[in-house]
Amino acid sequence: MAIFRHEVKDGVAAVTLDTPGAPVNVISRVVKDDLYELLAELERDAGVKAVAFFSGKPDNFIAGADIEEFVQLKSTADAEQLSRDGQALLDRVASFPKPIVAGIHGACLGGGLEFALACSYRVATDHPKTQIGLPEIQLGILPAAGGCQRLPRLIGARAALDMILAGKSERAAKAFRLGIVDELVPRAILPEITIAAARRLAQSPFHRRHGGGVPGLLLDGNPLGRLLVFRLARRQVLSQTKGNYPAPLAALDAVRHGLSHGMKEGLKREAQLFGQLALSDVSRKLVQIFFATRELKKDPGVAGAPPPAEVTRLAVVGSGFMGAGIAGTTVVQAGIDVRLKDADLGRVAKGLGAARDIVNDRLTRRRITKFEHTRLVAFLSGSDRYTGFGRADLVIEAVFEELAVKQQVLRECEEVLPPSSVFASNTSTIPIARIAEASRRPEQVIGMHFFSPVARMPLLEVIPTAATAPQTVSTAVGFGRRLGKTVIVVKDAPGFWVNRILAPYMNEAAHLLVTGVRPDDIDAAMVQFGFPVGPITLLDEVGIDVALHACEVLQAAFGERLTPPPALAALVKDGRLGRKAGKGFYTYSNGKKGGVDPAIYPLLGLQPNGGIPSAEIVQRLTYAMLNEAARAVAEGVVRTPRDGDIGAIYGFGFPPFRGGPLRYLDDVGADRLYAELQRLGERLGPRFMPSEAIVEHARSRARFYP
Ligand code: 3HC
Repeated sequence: MAIFRHEVKDGVAAVTLDTPGAPVNVISRVVKDDLYELLAELERDAGVKAVAFFSGKPDNFIAGADIEEFVQLKSTADAEQLSRDGQALLDRVASFPKPIVAGIHGACLGGGLEFALACSYRVATDHPKTQIGLPEIQLGILPAAGGCQRLPRLIGARAALDMILAGKSERAAKAFRLGIVDELVPRAILPEITIAAARRLAQSPFHRRHGGGVPGLLLDGNPLGRLLVFRLARRQVLSQTKGNYPAPLAALDAVRHGLSHGMKEGLKREAQLFGQLALSDVSRKLVQIFFATRELKKDPGVAGAPPPAEVTRLAVVGSGFMGAGIAGTTVVQAGIDVRLKDADLGRVAKGLGAARDIVNDRLTRRRITKFEHTRLVAFLSGSDRYTGFGRADLVIEAVFEELAVKQQVLRECEEVLPPSSVFASNTSTIPIARIAEASRRPEQVIGMHFFSPVARMPLLEVIPTAATAPQTVSTAVGFGRRLGKTVIVVKDAPGFWVNRILAPYMNEAAHLLVTGVRPDDIDAAMVQFGFPVGPITLLDEVGIDVALHACEVLQAAFGERLTPPPALAALVKDGRLGRKAGKGFYTYSNGKKGGVDPAIYPLLGLQPNGGIPSAEIVQRLTYAMLNEAARAVAEGVVRTPRDGDIGAIYGFGFPPFRGGPLRYLDDVGADRLYAELQRLGERLGPRFMPSEAIVEHARSRARFYP
């Protein structure tokens, strides 16, 4: 079957790209070859005066260059050539003697947008599925088929850098405001309007509107203004990436070089930089994460599971921060009825308010219309009884972290739930099997561990017990995915995966603290390593009391190696619980975090000292985590290293460019880790002694990723 088909009517060739058998269109080598052939044919055909270009995929225009081809690249020269080939093709499009108009519906990303930018004119649908952007930075590369040249020329350097350096996609309305898209239309009339634009352009090519706005042009027009734009952008990139990601700096270089030395030189630089980046370790890791995340999207979570049961109504017990977060996120993402229950109506009202805030936020960010907002808010209801539970397909409890309370809730729910419905617990510390002991149908009981804040955190841990039925697993996994979460299925063991491996890391930060290392030094070292926030800031965010409780649970399960330093309890006793209490390790005023609060030192009974080198801070914290991670993998807490790495990246922001803790462990090398852990163990105590898993890995020279 052909990749391109076209028909000519009244001088306009309507071309459709529809890669057979593929879910999305990508620009692969085959697509490039076929496009050359098609263009030659359209050029020869005197009956064709203009071209209108469409995608045959339902909600996808072009998802970019074929990322699979990057994995096969063997040398920087190969990679540079790949970029050169893409640029040459798009030069052919840009200089085609007849106007080409792109009719865009669905994702128009990376090389897909670069193609559209090479066209003479762009019409896009105002549909939410139409997303326009250059996400290459997220793969550790840069737009390399002319994107670093054409976008700034179209909308100004400042707006182009905003898009390229953030790598995030924009809705069509924003792309229209920026001047990337020339016309915005409802989906139903995309073909007519695109074909009409092509016909118009064939008659008179002079009607393009300029994007970028006056400020953009003023700044780009003079060298001093441009210098300012680039200096600011560079500063911002360095502050955000700490120099760990080379791609944004390379993109800045490519844009700047092109604007200073012309398109041809700019393209050359773009290709050279792509050559270097595509083969870099950072890019390889980010591409691996892309594929691992896609694989997880298709994984039912348990081998041979029946398809998930349909969830058309959700009930949530407990209207605190987590319960309200689950309710609001469900309404926004799945658009189904949610009944929120708590012990008294005051709490229910508060929870409903918090859930509504999540819907309101979508409206404020213009992700939904006022009409959709009204519709979504109407899905939320609440009660202080179990009314409405009789029709719920799934109930998620998010009540107080106490076994007896959770078992009581489970019993009460089972009195009223339909026989087929699933009961899920959002506990972070209690074994699901213990909760299920109170159930009359343990095969329908499971853990669904969301992370806080639910609306923003991308991970969900699903925890079956030995008694959980496969369909209960696939239902929980499927529902999590509907909420837009990346889901890993983990073993019912204390701390599950994420908290299990986070605990020794946080504990070690606390050990450093109580020897007088300053909190901000610990945080700075870990942020420089690549974490979004340092462990002490994280303690303040999570709540020192909550973190301490989680540590105590793990200590009870695993003993001494996870014992937190006793001094931390003094902070909790002082009401110093972190951001929520307005005081923690740091000061807070009007919700804004300030510096380290000196009041913590007398509470901890110490004076801050000169500290230790940041490399040592990093080593102690990360090696403690790696040691525990290897142990947990050996115990089967995660099904694959892939799940473990994705869980750590999405669960607490393990630096993506390092590929996750298990890939990082492979990079460090089990033998080196073993030797260093022994050294640390002798100096600092048995908590550092290499786990059996590390001993075994070091002995057999095994890797998590062979
Ligand atoms: N290359 C190869 N495969 C791709 C791809 C790409 N650019 N984009 C998507 N796919 C594949 C996915 O791997 C998946 O394959 P599978 O079904 O075999 O697992 C399939 O298409 C469907 O993808 P999703 O499951 O992600 O579908 P969604 O509908 O959820 O999302 C999407 C669609 C928004 C397009 C999302 O797939 C996406 O973000 N893709 C990546 C976009 C991107 O990063 N583009 C830039 C590429 S680099 C580039 O263009 C370089 C250039 O400057 C030279």
